[in-house]
Amino acid sequence: MIIGVPKEVKDHETRVGVTPAGVKELKAAGHTVLVEQHAGELSAFTDEEYQRVGAEIVGHAAHVWDHAELVVKVKEPVEKEYVFFRPGLTLFTYLHLAPLPALTEALLTKKVTGIAYETIRDTLGTLPLLTPMSEVAGRMSVQVGASYLEKSKGGRGLLLGGVPGVPPAEVCIIGGGIVGTNAAKIALGMGAKVTIVDRNLHRLRELDDIFGGRIFTLASNLHNLTEAVKVADLVIGGVLIPGAAAPKLVTRSMVAEMKKGAVIVDVAIDQGGCIETARPTTHSDPSYLVDGVVHYCVTNMPAAVPNTSTLALTNATFPYLQRLAQMGPREALLADPGLAGGVNTHAGVLTCEPVAASQGKEWTPIAQLLAS
Ligand SMILES: NC(=O)c1ccc[n+]([C@@H]2O[C@H](COP(=O)([O-])OP(=O)(O)OC[C@H]3O[C@@H](n4cnc5c(N)ncnc54)[C@H](O)[C@@H]3O)[C@@H](O)[C@H]2O)c1
Repeated sequence: MIIGVPKEVKDHETRVGVTPAGVKELKAAGHTVLVEQHAGELSAFTDEEYQRVGAEIVGHAAHVWDHAELVVKVKEPVEKEYVFFRPGLTLFTYLHLAPLPALTEALLTKKVTGIAYETIRDTLGTLPLLTPMSEVAGRMSVQVGASYLEKSKGGRGLLLGGVPGVPPAEVCIIGGGIVGTNAAKIALGMGAKVTIVDRNLHRLRELDDIFGGRIFTLASNLHNLTEAVKVADLVIGGVLIPGAAAPKLVTRSMVAEMKKGAVIVDVAIDQGGCIETARPTTHSDPSYLVDGVVHYCVTNMPAAVPNTSTLALTNATFPYLQRLAQMGPREALLADPGLAGGVNTHAGVLTCEPVAASQGKEWTPIAQLLAS
């Protein structure tokens, strides 16, 4: 199969769909891999590294898209990439089609098979291609928070771990899922006092066991949140209600009662944020102050660490890519219903129910299309 890896063109996107290690495996399996010039550069993978393992480096995105049977990307295509769509093309990437009717229409009109990372499920029913980015963002949230606690960044001038004779910072993590657990690991490692607030008591029991009682757990309710946020030096927002906007658990008045120079990192901002005063920010202008509290609300945190993020993402995507290439998309989808769940568009038909619901369109299950 001919596999294409274009350079990402979305603003601030620094990751790449396949690493040189991936190319090496694909080549060993007999495939051809076309990599657009400089595609891996921002993730610290040079054209020479790709070339050494057998990739063909091509100068233009159009060449990659026109010659590849399977195109592997990271972010959803932007408008200037729509011209590359054509019948029979398989596109493997994050698509996030629900709020993007123009992209959905372009994929349908051009009969592209669009397989979205974010709707693939594993045998446990979880979303394995979303998890690695939550791991990155969760770990990064503490690193970022510790940095913004420094005086020069607008913070209280606090060292997260304290020193002998001086207590550590108090970190309050709201949501004990992937983001929250990874944030807790790093915060504990840096010597902070960590509290995790979650509404799921089973999860709190698991966290208590995982961390051997070294963290404090709190059931999520208005009273507990109010008290925990008031004493916190760093608040990390990591709640998720799948498919829904994040609930505003920390209100404006709760922020007003926080310590001056405390820091909020609202990781859940990509779902609207769980802090009332949070609004989306970018890597070029990541933070702002409300009531003397520093807010960091970057919607694509993993793009700040593209080498780690690309490796983490491709660790998860590559086994699927291998199967798509080896078996061909149709057979790979028939063999794995979880992978088939990733198909959002196929042969001009919308195949993802939530996307159809949010755009008021008709949809057909992919299994039905593949069976016919
Ligand atoms: N900003 C970024 O760059 C970035 C990167 C990765 C992930 N995220 C986002 O981070 C968020 C968290 O992702 P995740 O993978 O950790 O999700 P997850 O499903 O693993 O965890 C979410 C947790 O929130 C808890 N929760 C739900 N309602 C709650 C409430 N009312 N009070 C307290 N806890 C509550 C759930 O019980 C669960 O434990 C998501 O919105 C995700 O999209 C953002």
